Amino acid sequence: MTAMSSGPASSLRLRFLFAILLWVALGIGGIWYSATRVFIKHIELQYHDELYGHVRELAGLVAVAPDGHIALSRPLSDPRYLEPMSGFYWQVTVDKGDTLRSASMLHGALDDNVAHSPQVIHMVDRGPTGPAITYGFTRLTPDGRVIHYVIATDKRYLDESIAHFTIELSLWLLALAVALIGTGVLAIAFVLKPLNRLGLAVAELRSGRREPLQGPFPTEISPLVDDLNAYIVENQAIIERARVQAGNLAHSLRTPLAVIIDEAEHLAANPATQEPGRNLLHQSEAMAQQIEFHLARARSAAMAKTSGHASPVPSIFLPLLSAMHKLHRDRTYVLHHPPGLSVRVAVDPSDLSELLSILLDNAGKWSRARILVTISTTPTHCTIGIADDGPGMTPEQIDGACAIGVRYDETRPGSGLGLAIARDIAEVYDIAFELVTPPTGGLDARLSIPLAP
Ligand SMILES: Nc1ncnc2c1ncn2[C@@H]1O[C@H](COP(=O)(O)OP(=O)(O)O)[C@@H](O)[C@H]1O
Ligand SMILES: [Mg+2]
Repeated sequence: MTAMSSGPASSLRLRFLFAILLWVALGIGGIWYSATRVFIKHIELQYHDELYGHVRELAGLVAVAPDGHIALSRPLSDPRYLEPMSGFYWQVTVDKGDTLRSASMLHGALDDNVAHSPQVIHMVDRGPTGPAITYGFTRLTPDGRVIHYVIATDKRYLDESIAHFTIELSLWLLALAVALIGTGVLAIAFVLKPLNRLGLAVAELRSGRREPLQGPFPTEISPLVDDLNAYIVENQAIIERARVQAGNLAHSLRTPLAVIIDEAEHLAANPATQEPGRNLLHQSEAMAQQIEFHLARARSAAMAKTSGHASPVPSIFLPLLSAMHKLHRDRTYVLHHPPGLSVRVAVDPSDLSELLSILLDNAGKWSRARILVTISTTPTHCTIGIADDGPGMTPEQIDGACAIGVRYDETRPGSGLGLAIARDIAEVYDIAFELVTPPTGGLDARLSIPLAP
């Protein structure tokens, strides 16, 4: 059973990432907005202060002669008013009289209407070189005429400094955002590390390579780990009980079944009841085979898959081979492996012994003289081959050989359960198991067993 998991909400990592992105976006966006606001306000104020000063200076420098003629006692202190078309301009006009313009204003004129009150007024107006911030105010000459003082600075200067600042600020904040997201990702990895460890431990547990979860876990998840461990222990107990019950059930059926088979044999021997007798015999023998098979499996430790199994190879072969020598006295078993080989495979020793003795016994029963057992290893697996020089099997026979009760050669003693049990054990432990008939004859049983960690 897998827990529901769909969409981004299912991953803690993604959730954290979303949270960090939101947090960084809000923070950086907020800084960007407020910093540009403050800067614009500040620079505008500075600009206006400066222009206000210029227009006052201009008024101070203008001298009005009694005939209404006006002249500047000296140039304005800012040299930009002298540079042609520099964007800094001034203009002084006397009503129905002279107009004086800054040297920078080669052509065009400023609008006198900007200056229409004794109070300094400012606005954005059309200037000789584009939109300009214009300042102006009026004064009266001694003979009662109005003098208009106007000063204008191209607005693009202000816009340019604001744009420069904004671009530079944006680049810095972008770098900051990248750094924040980067450290955020590292922080996520750091925070989630115990969860990864837990996931690995659970995976190992599931593959039967590890006992209950160990090691310190953060206080937030250690109750979960404890519960999980308690659950594992409970689960093992339940499996154990089920095994015992299955064994007991099969065992209790054995004796009544033996009586039934005995009766069926009598009926089959009697010509009057031969037909139903044979039927009964056939069916009850099939039942007996099933019971023997499941009894063998219930006894096996394979059903309790949770704990870390390990069997030593090749030493596990020693007692098996000495038993085989006694069982099949006229056969020779030869064990072949790299010198000094010693590995541990992830299988319970009694299950591995059972699996190997089924194959060794079959090889002994059907070989003519010699059985060759070869062991080799890869970084992850131990490979075992048990090859005999007997008649072998056809591919069709190999396909069916692992079914319960299937036997092709009734001249040798047997129950037809051996290969069925062997295949069952192999499946439980993820052992790759195949029977092949090599071109040289005989039968070759090959196992590839995962090594214990
Ligand atoms: N090494 C072998 N060589 C030839 N035939 C074999 C070999 N091993 C198994 N078989 C065939 O597969 C059948 C099933 O084997 P098994 O399940 O061990 O049952 P049993 O040994 O009780 O007959 C055997 O009856 C036999 O015909
Ligand atoms: Mg057998």
